[in-house]
Amino acid sequence: MVTKEFCYNLPKAELHLHIEGTFEPELIFTIAQKNNVTLKYKSVEEIRKAYNFSNLQDFLDIYYQGMSVLIHEQDFFDLTWAYLQKAHEQGVKHAEIFFDPQGHTARGVSFEKVITGISGALEKGQKELGISYKLIMCFLRHLSEQDALKTWEEAKPYLKNIHGVGLDSSEVGNPPSKFSNVYTKAREAGLFCVAHAGEEGPASYIYEALDILKVVRIDHGNHSLDDQQLVDRLVKEKMPLTVCPLSNLKLKVVEDLSKHPLKKMMDAGLLVTLNSDDPAYFGGYIGDNYFEIAKTLNLSEDDLKLLAKNSINATQLDQSSKNQLLEKIA
Ligand code: ADE
Ligand code: ZN
Repeated sequence: MVTKEFCYNLPKAELHLHIEGTFEPELIFTIAQKNNVTLKYKSVEEIRKAYNFSNLQDFLDIYYQGMSVLIHEQDFFDLTWAYLQKAHEQGVKHAEIFFDPQGHTARGVSFEKVITGISGALEKGQKELGISYKLIMCFLRHLSEQDALKTWEEAKPYLKNIHGVGLDSSEVGNPPSKFSNVYTKAREAGLFCVAHAGEEGPASYIYEALDILKVVRIDHGNHSLDDQQLVDRLVKEKMPLTVCPLSNLKLKVVEDLSKHPLKKMMDAGLLVTLNSDDPAYFGGYIGDNYFEIAKTLNLSEDDLKLLAKNSINATQLDQSSKNQLLEKIA
């Protein structure tokens, strides 16, 4: 049986992490008080009790409420710094993290405050914790492409701080093809593209993400297993999938961790990686995801090393930086 210590100490990259999903109830309370925001919850325990989700939308409703207390640049810095300390404790050497600007600009918080706060903490993390990073701006897919295009224009002065674009929020009914124009603009500006696809949505959304958005990774991708031709293509193209076991459990993408398809995905030869998605809401950071799924599916140390190596190979780092990180995995 693998130990938690082994899972934490394994050098790894985190590739599917919403920074707003790392907002722990204690910090929500501290920042709400500082900003004079009244919460509908009276205690940290009461917040945690509300984290009982039936599906993705149930979670998103609470996730957007949580992030609404973030107002000042310092709030975004503190949020990001808290995550980086957790990530450091759990073996993260490189993080490619998401942020949701529309969740803030729609409330009147400037794009500049959001990006400056997050980027400041990421720079400090690189210097003081040795965690290299890329920052991925996500578009909220329940909103229009027009809104995403407006956000793209707002982001333009800050593109030196933004390395990729992603697509998140309510998946079913909002296919990747809805965002083809804004993704073309991002690609032409030199950013890499990823998208959530096949978390609750069908395999056809994964084809659209590949063929229309030209993604370099699929976020989640669970429903690829419904289509053998798609699996064959993902294997052939070495297309990374950023799988999130504890998220899948909490959002009822799987009814039980023992029914999680991770092993099936690995056996099929897919380039799967393990990630935490929204760890403050789903009960564990990345090392916890490695440990819980290893315990449940009886994974070996070698299986976990392969998953950690996959995570490095699936980054957007250059080959020599990848090699330096790969050498750390014995
Ligand atoms: N936003 C934050 N977490 C998400 C997830 N798991 N799926 C879609 N959108 C999200
Ligand atoms: Zn996600």
